[in-house]
Amino acid sequence: MTEKYGQTVKVLFTEDEIKHAVNQLGKRISFDYRDKDLLVVGVLKGSFVFMADLVRKIDLPFELDFIKLHSYKGISSSGNVSLDLDISYDLEGKDILIVEDMLDTGKTLKKIYKSFSQRNARSVKSAVLLDKPSRRTENICADYRCFEIPDSFVVGYGLDFDERFRALPYIAKLY
Ligand code: IMP
Ligand code: MG
Repeated sequence: MTEKYGQTVKVLFTEDEIKHAVNQLGKRISFDYRDKDLLVVGVLKGSFVFMADLVRKIDLPFELDFIKLHSYKGISSSGNVSLDLDISYDLEGKDILIVEDMLDTGKTLKKIYKSFSQRNARSVKSAVLLDKPSRRTENICADYRCFEIPDSFVVGYGLDFDERFRALPYIAKLY
């Protein structure tokens, strides 16, 4: 446990552990997509650090872009997700890999899949940094993931609490 910006945090994954996992994932993706027309799509804002590190480990001539979603979390836990920034060009024939920071309830990823599947992409898969399977409400899983974690709130490496802590180089549980 340490104190960071007035909050108690506990490091779950160090910089080195993340680097190793991201390198391994990059190798797998480079192999799996070697004959495909890859378009890597980062989900803002949370994925920006993961995306930057991951794409530099994919040794292929792929394209990349970003989308942005907004989750309206009401009094109940059911989040209503809407697309704020979309990809404007043609996705026909593309092999899309969505890059997300966290797979939680699954509502965000489900919304993205629905949007892309209506536009004739050849394939749509996902790579997530963190997976909280115990929180899932949607019937969805990630094709690639770096770490599985229990139900707890984490920050760092792109993930925020109230827009802060995104730039921490490690992933930490917030108390
Ligand atoms: P889902 O739609 O419930 O799967 O939520 C996914 C989104 O919720 C992620 O992209 C994150 O932005 C956010 N989120 C879920 N859990 C955490 C967390 O522990 N820390 C920070 N953000 C989180
Ligand atoms: Mg997010």
